[in-house]
This record gives sequence, C-alpha cells and structure tokens, in this order.
Amino acid sequence: MNILLTGGLGFIGSHTAAVLAGEGHEVVIIDNLCNSQRQTLGSLEMIAGKKFPFYEGDVRDLTLVKSILQDHQIECVIHFAGLKSVAESGVDPLKYFDNNVGGSITLMEAMQAANVKKLIFSSSATVYGIPQYLPYDEEHPLSPMNVYGRTKLQVEEILQDLSRSDPDWSIVCLRYFNPIGAHESGLIGELPQGIPNNLMPYICQVVSGKLPHLNVFGDDYDTKDGTGERDYIHVMDLAEGHAAALAFTRDHKGWEAINLGTGIPYSVYDLINAFEKSAKQAIPKMVKERRSGDLPIYFAKVEKAKNLLNWEAKRDLQLMCDSSWKYQQGAKR
Ligand SMILES: NC(=O)c1ccc[n+]([C@@H]2O[C@H](COP(=O)([O-])OP(=O)(O)OC[C@H]3O[C@@H](n4cnc5c(N)ncnc54)[C@H](O)[C@@H]3O)[C@@H](O)[C@H]2O)c1
Repeated sequence: MNILLTGGLGFIGSHTAAVLAGEGHEVVIIDNLCNSQRQTLGSLEMIAGKKFPFYEGDVRDLTLVKSILQDHQIECVIHFAGLKSVAESGVDPLKYFDNNVGGSITLMEAMQAANVKKLIFSSSATVYGIPQYLPYDEEHPLSPMNVYGRTKLQVEEILQDLSRSDPDWSIVCLRYFNPIGAHESGLIGELPQGIPNNLMPYICQVVSGKLPHLNVFGDDYDTKDGTGERDYIHVMDLAEGHAAALAFTRDHKGWEAINLGTGIPYSVYDLINAFEKSAKQAIPKMVKERRSGDLPIYFAKVEKAKNLLNWEAKRDLQLMCDSSWKYQQGAKR
C-alpha cells in the first residue's frame, strides 16, 4: 500500500517506517522536524535499503498535505505528528490544541478532499485518567488528567464523529502505553531534545555520563516495590502493531480504539535493574518526593488487539533495555 506517515521521523514513526518498508509498503513521510532530526531519514534508508519520499513540512499546511496525498496516491495515513510533553502541555495549552487537534483536523480535511479514508491515529493511554479498575480495557471511562491527554481524547472524538458522518472511513485509534527500546540495528531510537521527560531516555543519559543521577519520584506507592509501575512496550512491537492495524483497515470500516501494550506492569526498579544488566554498570539514583499527577500503576488489557489485529507484543524488558543501550552508545546527541 502507499502510506503517508505524519511525524514519520520521530521515535515511533521512524520504527514504523522501517517495519512497513520491510513489508514492502511504499512509505512517504512528512515531518516538520520540531522534535526530530533529518539524519534519521538517512538511518532509515540504510535500514530499508531504499529511499523514502520526504517532505519537511507541517500537517497544518492543508495545500501541502493535499498535494502529497494526491501525488503519491496515498491509500492510508498513519498520524504520528503531535507534541507529547505532559508538562509543556500544561504550560502552553494553546500550542498543544493548535498542533495536536488543529493539525489533526487539517489532516482530516485534506484526506476528505483527496478521498483518502483510512487513518491510524497515535492515541495514548493517558485518555483513561485515574484507573477505576485495572487493567484498563477500551471501555474504561475516559477522563484525561492533563492537557496533552485531552488533545488525544478530542481527536479520538472528532474521528468518531467523522466516521459516523461517512461510513466509508476506516479509523483506528491506537492507545499506546509506554514505548521504549530501539531498532535492533542501533541506527534509530529515541532522541529527546534537552533533558528527557521520560524514564528510559533519562536512564540512558545517566549511564552515558550526561546526567549525574536518576531521580526516582516516590518509592512509597502501594506497588510491589513502592515505585511506579508502567506497561513498557518495545517500540518494535508497537511498530508491528501499526502494520497489523494497517492490514485491519483493508477489510474493516468504522471507528475502533485499541490498546497497544504488553499487559505487564514493570516498576521503576525493574527497569533500572534490567538496564544495569544491559549496560553492565550501576545507575546512580536518588529517591525524591512523588510528583503530582503521577499514577501509582497502570497497564493495558490487550485482548482486543489480539482479537481484532491478530497482534501481541513479543519482546521482553531485557530486550527493551539492551536495544536502548545499543542505540544510546552510537547516538550523536
Ligand atoms: N512516546 C510515547 O510515549 C507516546 C505514548 C503515547 C502516544 N504517543 C503519541 O505518538 C505520536 C508519536 O510519538 P513519538 O514518541 O514518536 O514522538 P516524537 O516527538 O518522537 O515524534 C513526533 C514527530 O512529529 C513531528 N511533528 C510534530 N508536530 C508536527 C506537525 N505539526 N507537522 C509535522 N510534523 C510534526 C515531530 O517533529 C516528530 O518527528 C505522538 O502523537 C505522541 O503523542 C507517544
């Protein structure tokens, strides 16, 4: 299929591009490089052994997006382009609504005009909010606790309305849990700008000597070892989940929301221990106060993805850490 990846040079988009190209799809990428680097394109092309048509541009540029859809006879769009910092979204909500919601609406308009009606959207487990029960299934009430999560929920709702208005649409909202890890080649991975917000890139920078120690925010939660537990998923498993969703859109119409996780909660200490094995060194750490807004534990119910997409995560925590460390050792930033 001819597929457009918005935000395709970012962390999840680049791994998905590698998987889809490996399956023989024609992948076109648009990215404004606000949180990625052009060099990733070269790395991707080394992995795939072929060139990818690339547009440095913004999904809010209706004319550009329409012409890409038409010129490349795009059949499906995978929409990764978005801003993802929970903290920044609280400080600058308009930037987040403009980019994440506004950008998605412009993309939908362009798709409608070009008669492209298959869309896979990068949603997030943050749409669920405080767990009423665990694991979160897709029927769990939706009540995001921050602006970032609200941008994701709003786009999901707009997409649902769009599919109700026109039954030709096939829309899959993939609710990601916590992607970490890197491509097995070590050529692409997560390249955060500045000081990382997330645990894995932070650990990588501590181990490589760029940051002095890791802060563990709270070790007195009601969890197995007192630290927060999350459903970490290998980014290559996540990328393969997109390939499965793409296959699903061939034969199904309507709107679906589907969790992509492993269904297994790992604690901060589990992750640190596994990473220490990968890097063969101890990670200096300091326990700090809990951060407001952090949940003690959450993880996915994964049956819907198994049933509808015939997909499940295969890679374990050690592989997630090994691949992150391999990538970090070669990373330029
Ligand atoms: N990484 C996670 O933990 C996680 C979890 C749940 C959901 N998501 C969502 O998945 C998507 C991809 O996440 P990621 O981790 O790969 O993030 P990322 O920042 O690495 O990738 C996003 C890419 O989109 C580009 N971009 C952003 N706004 C754009 C715009 N207006 N026009 C064109 N390009 C634009 C960025 O330059 C970047 O390359 C995002 O929508 C994110 O919100 C991520």
